[in-house]
Amino acid sequence: MERELTVAVVGATGAVGREMLKTLAERAFPATKVKAFASERSAGTRVPFGEDGTELVVEELREDSFKGIDLALFSAGGATSTKFAPLAVHAGCVVVDNSAAWRMDPRCPLVVPEVNPDALDNHNGIIANPNCSTIQMVVVLKPIYDMAGIKRIVVSTYQAVSGTGQKGIRELEKQVSDIFNMRETSPSVYPCQIAFNILPQIDIFMDNDYTKEEMKMVNETVKILADPNVRVTATCARVPVFYCHAEAVNVETDKKLAAREARAILAQAPGVRVLDNPREGIYPLPLECSGEDPVFVGRIRDDESIDNGLNLWIVADNVRKGAALNAVQIAEELVRKNLVHVKNRDVFID
Ligand code: A2P
Repeated sequence: MERELTVAVVGATGAVGREMLKTLAERAFPATKVKAFASERSAGTRVPFGEDGTELVVEELREDSFKGIDLALFSAGGATSTKFAPLAVHAGCVVVDNSAAWRMDPRCPLVVPEVNPDALDNHNGIIANPNCSTIQMVVVLKPIYDMAGIKRIVVSTYQAVSGTGQKGIRELEKQVSDIFNMRETSPSVYPCQIAFNILPQIDIFMDNDYTKEEMKMVNETVKILADPNVRVTATCARVPVFYCHAEAVNVETDKKLAAREARAILAQAPGVRVLDNPREGIYPLPLECSGEDPVFVGRIRDDESIDNGLNLWIVADNVRKGAALNAVQIAEELVRKNLVHVKNRDVFID
């Protein structure tokens, strides 16, 4: 008989948290009870759980909230994860964390179920969900890596405002409305106006002049592929799109893989949908991929400037596969592998 699981979503009022609840319900995740947590500000409010009108009452997240909870999906920012994920593990709860807080910690697997499900096998209680831009890129690159090896990846991203959560969505809506109503507008979430603009900055700048988002793509890709020889360089831009990140990816392989071979491999790959018929004007578009589960790839071309290279255009819903869906798939994999238990409750307690 299946174990009865109590599941919590932490950050349940946010853009990703809401999608996590929706995805758990849609996929009939085997939970006997689902609880919703957010900050003190939201305690007592309600959030939808599924399409049938069911709602959950939001509870304030507290240090003792995890008693009796088997599995918690976190999407409440890095500070909340840093503080509360170790407390959850200490209470015997397995955490799937969508923030960046634990991704590069060697104690925490960084998992995309289509790519490295076996990394879950020896987890210590906290499993990290990768950055949204990294998830969609590695889902497409893993089958290419397995077939031809990868030397180097050059990626440019075009990222939606929902990546910044509800506040990013509100900022674009407000600026567009201000401009159409001939009102002055000013940025508050982003460093510059996002409406009708493109910002070549996501997150803060690091000492090497790359942004934190760009370095996440570099470091997380290497960790997920578990291959320190893969070289990655990234430029990340924020665009005035609500949902779906798009990426132009150039990949140099070890062995020659022609575009038509790559197209055939990707057509069979888990979690990937090929939309690639340029003559008919068929390629992935954010507006069409929004709300969908797969990672879409098109514009698959031989890179004619090098011997072994491909160019790809990759689009996925950043809130779904880039965050909530990937977290729920990790949870499903934990259940399937019978790994919803904490071996040592003190691993993250200093
Ligand atoms: P709240 O709505 O009560 O502020 P988003 O990324 O869309 O902005 O959402 C962030 C989520 O994280 C929200 O659900 C937010 O709850 C939650 N959150 C932020 N700070 C905390 C905190 N200190 N404790 C618990 N939840 C938090």
